Amino acid sequence: MVKTLIPKITKAVFPVGGMGTRFLPATKAIPKEMLPVVDKPLIQYAVEEAYAAGIRQMIFVTGRHKRSIEDHFDTAYELEAELESQHKDVMLAVVRSIKPEDMDCIFVRQPRALGLGHAVLCAENLVGNEPFAVLLADDLMVGEPPVLKQMIQSFSTAPGTVLAVQEVPREHTKRYGIVSVHSDQRAYAAVDGIVEKPAPEDAPSTLGVAGRYILSPSIFQSIRSQPRGVGGEIQLTDGIAGLIGVEPVYSLRYTGTRYDCGSKDGFLQATIDLALANPELAESVKDHMRASLAR
Ligand code: UTP
Repeated sequence: MVKTLIPKITKAVFPVGGMGTRFLPATKAIPKEMLPVVDKPLIQYAVEEAYAAGIRQMIFVTGRHKRSIEDHFDTAYELEAELESQHKDVMLAVVRSIKPEDMDCIFVRQPRALGLGHAVLCAENLVGNEPFAVLLADDLMVGEPPVLKQMIQSFSTAPGTVLAVQEVPREHTKRYGIVSVHSDQRAYAAVDGIVEKPAPEDAPSTLGVAGRYILSPSIFQSIRSQPRGVGGEIQLTDGIAGLIGVEPVYSLRYTGTRYDCGSKDGFLQATIDLALANPELAESVKDHMRASLAR
């Protein structure tokens, strides 16, 4: 029997070039990806998810005002020396674990925030001709196994472009890329259409795309060949639409929870849920919430 070789996903792209206007004024000088949920910045959750999925090359597409992301994944020599001399071993281990030794971080700039599709194009030379993952750090995903790992597992059964999807309320379709699939029943289904932020009455389904993708390298040419999309931006969704019918495109209904941390309510929900899941914080947070609600 001839076995087809399934390509390995070795690179993850983190587009972090957006302006984060929904979170102003917090994001005037701080990238939204550096906002902390409990004690970790959003970008670190996304990098840890990619690492847990076996990826070791992390490619960040950054912009102006995003220097703190580079600093976060760099060695903080003075801090480490200080923690070492004070024998704060636990904190030292926490700081050093941000960038494991076998992980590479590469940074490329998106000169102008022209859209997510444009940000992905900026990584083309670093990605080369292989399938790769894209993680939007402002979508904080909690899943077991981690959502990107679930996607890679599905990819290894039938390779192609893979979109993480979830059911969304029909009145919210305008916030998402919405897909239509051949078979409504299967968790891993072939996609036959995708449209960016449709009005509820125009949405082909209520399956919304979350910020996790495995993309075929053909995406670069496809993005380039699309005209400007919704909001005048170069949209990743339009590039994906260009692949449908040409190459396999699948959606995976993942198991887990997505928090839209680019919005204030999603960010607060993530903060509450992750604090409640933290044994050191859970009881005091519950006490505080009971007291606040009783006031
Ligand atoms: P958003 O649609 O959330 O846009 O981008 P934004 O600019 O970050 O935030 P708002 O809407 O103004 O509040 C989705 C993802 O795509 C990245 C963002 O950083 C985010 O991870 N992105 C978006 C880029 O990297 N470059 C862009 O030009 C646009």
